[in-house]
Amino acid sequence: MEEGFRWSTPCSLVLYSVFLLLSATASEANIGDFDDYWQQRKLMADAAAEATYKHDPLEVTDQLNRAVHRSIEKEDTSTRREMMEQKKSKLSGPCTATNPIDRCWRCRQDWATDRKRLARCAKGFGRNTTGGLAGKFYVVTDGTDDDVVNPRPGTLRWGVIQIEPLWITFAKTMIITLKEELIIRGDKTIDGRGAQVRIANGAQLTVQFVNNVIIHNIHINDIVSSNKNGGYVRDSADHFGWRIVSDGDGVTVFGSTNVWLDHLSLSNCQDGLIDVIAKSTGVTISNCHLTNHNDRHALQLQRQAPRGPGHAVMQITIAFNHFGRGLVQRMPRCRWGFFHVVNNESTTTRTGSCTPSAAARPPPSSARATATSRRPTSRPSRSPSSTTRRSRSGRTGRGTRRTTSSWRAPTSPSPPARSTGS
Ligand SMILES: *[C@@H]1O[C@H](CO)[C@@H](O)[C@H](O)[C@H]1NC(C)=O
Ligand SMILES: *[C@@H]1O[C@H](CO)[C@@H](O)[C@H](O)[C@H]1NC(C)=O
Repeated sequence: MEEGFRWSTPCSLVLYSVFLLLSATASEANIGDFDDYWQQRKLMADAAAEATYKHDPLEVTDQLNRAVHRSIEKEDTSTRREMMEQKKSKLSGPCTATNPIDRCWRCRQDWATDRKRLARCAKGFGRNTTGGLAGKFYVVTDGTDDDVVNPRPGTLRWGVIQIEPLWITFAKTMIITLKEELIIRGDKTIDGRGAQVRIANGAQLTVQFVNNVIIHNIHINDIVSSNKNGGYVRDSADHFGWRIVSDGDGVTVFGSTNVWLDHLSLSNCQDGLIDVIAKSTGVTISNCHLTNHNDRHALQLQRQAPRGPGHAVMQITIAFNHFGRGLVQRMPRCRWGFFHVVNNESTTTRTGSCTPSAAARPPPSSARATATSRRPTSRPSRSPSSTTRRSRSGRTGRGTRRTTSSWRAPTSPSPPARSTGS
């Protein structure tokens, strides 16, 4: 019975580090034919961004900070001792959840029958993200991706292009190699709990001009840029269009609002691991594990600076992520937005413009890379380079600290048994 709990054993003794970045490509990235459909979607996305933007971001950051303090207080010393012991035998011991996001759902015996509880667990700027809460369950039974214009029911692609809200789960462990970008429509939850789902060796996940998406508990690795010449890809049940070659990021969030990426394990993608760009806001990236991204282009976050007013609307929370081994390139870059970084440890020696200066303070630490502007509609008055400087909140001197990570990729092959076995 312990078996079933494997993946939900200790999340993290400490709150981890972070990352993230931002960059900008051409303004309508990858859309080969910016037709009426996409123009409409973009207008709706812009309106959603303005509506999602918080004029009082400190209310959001304070709330999360308080929640972190509360969960640290709850952890008594005996729990800590237990967890230290668990590190010796990582797969045994009681389930523990040490941050306020995980506490909300993890270690609950009914998680498999109450999956939608997760929709109430987001914190930070993405806290209103409910994904497919209002929809039906859709179970992915087919791990192939042969037809990207007319995907078969049963495939992941069929689920994500639907217009209606859907809560997507997986029938079994599978490796999905995407032939072209997986373009996710709004009001979706991709919930990989209970199966080991790996998206690998193919194209990336794209969240573009949509609202309300949760991606939870999947592995993403070895993503490459798609088909050299681009191709037709269905982006909605009622539309498909020409896509130019994709970047090869793990996940691209482009011009989207209310996006929550949680418990993703990402490594070795051709471009960045996670790329949040354009007018995206209301985003939380939490409990992610980023490793082995060490080729020449690893986390290549410095592209051409974005220009124009849209980019200051960005408000992102980056919390409890593990910025792990094998990340050799420039660390995350955060610019043109407001970033709440909650963490206090990093296992890499590299730092970036978003590495929290507060790492040296007692937990929870938070660093804000402040916005060029608090107003979504105002035009940044500074040059990109000075903005970058302004948003550089400092560097941590503790980057070399080695973590004894108890973060675990969620890999349970089956839901936990009804009792903990103890
Ligand atoms: C980070 O936080 C954890 C738990 O909140 C604490 O045990 C650890 O000492 C902190 N690390 C640093 C470097 O402050
Ligand atoms: C979330 O929704 C509530 C209620 O509608 C709203 O007050 C709040 O501003 C929204 N955004 C965030 C980031 O909390």
